[in-house]
Amino acid sequence: TRTPVNVTVTGAAGQIGYALLFRIASGQLLGADVPVRLRLLEIPQAVKAAEGTAMELDDCAFPLLSGVDIFDDATKAFEGANVALLVGARPRTKGMERGDLLEANGGIFKPQGEAINAGAADDIKVLVVGNPANTNALIARSHAPDVPAERFTAMTRLDHNRALAQLARKAGVSVADLRKLTIWGNHSATQYPDIFHAEIAGKNAAETVNDQAWLENDFIPTVAKRGAAIIEARGASSAASAASAAIDHVHTWVNGTAEGDWTSMAVVSDGSYGVPEGLISSFPVTTKDGAWEIVQGLEINEFSRGRIDASVAELAEERDAVRKLGLI
Ligand code: NAI
Repeated sequence: TRTPVNVTVTGAAGQIGYALLFRIASGQLLGADVPVRLRLLEIPQAVKAAEGTAMELDDCAFPLLSGVDIFDDATKAFEGANVALLVGARPRTKGMERGDLLEANGGIFKPQGEAINAGAADDIKVLVVGNPANTNALIARSHAPDVPAERFTAMTRLDHNRALAQLARKAGVSVADLRKLTIWGNHSATQYPDIFHAEIAGKNAAETVNDQAWLENDFIPTVAKRGAAIIEARGASSAASAASAAIDHVHTWVNGTAEGDWTSMAVVSDGSYGVPEGLISSFPVTTKDGAWEIVQGLEINEFSRGRIDASVAELAEERDAVRKLGLI
């Protein structure tokens, strides 16, 4: 039998955690033949709730789940981790300035980066979900100097999936007919969902849709503001869809993108497409054998250039702000 893969999940007692853990344990993260051991990290006040979730995991009798351990200490939680899903974060509360938010999250992602550096397995793959996800990933990464930078990623797969759903609806097709959609930049309202290289049943999506007003006034804002619309409707932020996107992100990273397609992941920039080196920005990415590559050579039109530059400028501002705070 195979050795179980250690999956560390932070914020395990939160609402995304509740939607995520059962799917990991059932084999949807890594594959139906890969046993997993869950290592849950929570703050001390939430450990009891995490224990309750662990009882329910027991009660599912998942054949692939070889154990659940719960920690309130990051060093222990990341020991031997092969996959780390960093979901727990400090949300923005009323009256909180952006600097306060970045500082509070620095207090979470700096020690977690250090713990990953100290004890994670050599093949560690990190996905940051907790917001501001790109910059939290940057903070964690900068405190894990011994871990290759490409192992730290942030989630824009929910944005990608949201964009697929909107485009499929507009075109009257199934999401399965769509390829090569891209989310560029920051997981924030400035993100740019790009359909200029996307394909609908093999034909260029932007040309097929041929509706620039829809693109600018409907599609882009709907995707970018979807999180707020969910909160408005549900009275709580997206949880099951976020968990589903986290499953997709890691599954694609580990198992590869399909021939003729790509996905969106926020990864460390090598300077591609004018994104300053070192920023963790969303790109079109292919994956193979557990490694990702930024898709090269795409022609970026003027409209896309402006949108990408605006989102990347926001990432650079966030980086400068955390640098000023001494967090990176
Ligand atoms: P939640 O508030 O329900 O759960 C967060 C959990 O994290 C809580 O149980 C809390 O105790 C825990 N936590 C806080 N500090 C921690 C620490 N230092 N170590 C371990 N656990 C810690 O929040 P929810 O809805 O589960 O969302 C989690 C994060 O995901 C938020 O930051 C949210 O903004 C973000 N998010 C990101 C998305 C993306 O597309 N990248 C989409 C949706 C949400």
